[in-house]
Amino acid sequence: AQRVFSGIQPSGVPHLGNYIGAIRNWVQLQKTCGNNVMYSIVDLHALTVHQAPLLLKRNIKNMTVCLLACGIDPKQSIVFQQSQVPEHCELMWLLSCQTPNGWLNKMTQWKSKGATDNKSFVNIGLYAYPILMAADILLYKATHIPVGADQLQHLELTCDIAHTFNSRYGVEFFPKPQPLLSEGKNQRIMSLRNPLQKMSKSDNQEMARIDITDTPDQVHNKIRKAVTDCTSAVTFEPEERPGVSNLVSMYSALSGKTTDEVVEDFTGKETVELKDGLTQVIMS
Ligand code: TYM
Repeated sequence: AQRVFSGIQPSGVPHLGNYIGAIRNWVQLQKTCGNNVMYSIVDLHALTVHQAPLLLKRNIKNMTVCLLACGIDPKQSIVFQQSQVPEHCELMWLLSCQTPNGWLNKMTQWKSKGATDNKSFVNIGLYAYPILMAADILLYKATHIPVGADQLQHLELTCDIAHTFNSRYGVEFFPKPQPLLSEGKNQRIMSLRNPLQKMSKSDNQEMARIDITDTPDQVHNKIRKAVTDCTSAVTFEPEERPGVSNLVSMYSALSGKTTDEVVEDFTGKETVELKDGLTQVIMS
């Protein structure tokens, strides 16, 4: 049987990257995979960086409210707080004892987080984070995992861990989970201040992301100030023009048009018109 599982960290209000990359897919899957859908607010993962206790508590509630507002319906899916189910940690230990260090050394996320996040230091939790994520998925023998592209490396590791377990014990105990990316090639939404970094809840520059709770004025202001370059034409060239390409990506993801169609719509127009158009698409 098909079973959908995914998770989100309660480290702040979800942003447009979370919505485009994951949450709107979660909402859709409730309709197609009825009763076999689980979404977890992964508070244990959030503890890999320092959390003020009361703020974390509030963020868990806020994240729940935001998910409901986005269309996650507890009648159609199971929504739960990870730390309320102690088996996630238990399975994590069992899987940890089967996972070579070398596999974790290859993970890019803890390295970059450890390097850029001055709230944290590289602790064992941050390092072992992907094993807890594997435990989340394998605990429920989940088969389909709707995530943004930034989580693919973690999912590959989950498959490797499942495979190792199965072959060591000679049974097909854990099914191999497969990623479900949202449509299009642009699942990775980048920061509005630095288009070479992904849009992130933990970025301390608020102008770098659009939170789903932002007012129309805030959205307008943030998009207007989004970093582009000194060419005013609208093109989609992620390597050469990451800023404007990120805006085209967002426009494409939210309007259902391909990036080529968006570029065509804005031929002969300037970046500022794309920005105004994007603000409208975000608000609609
Ligand atoms: P988290 O909380 O960072 O993000 C939640 C979801 O949003 C996606 N996402 C993005 N998509 C596109 N562009 C972006 N800029 C962007 N930023 C975030 C993420 O890919 C994710 O799908 N490790 C996970 C949480 C997790 C999990 C799991 C996921 C824990 N256990 C088991 C799936 C299955 C994380 O930190 O997501």
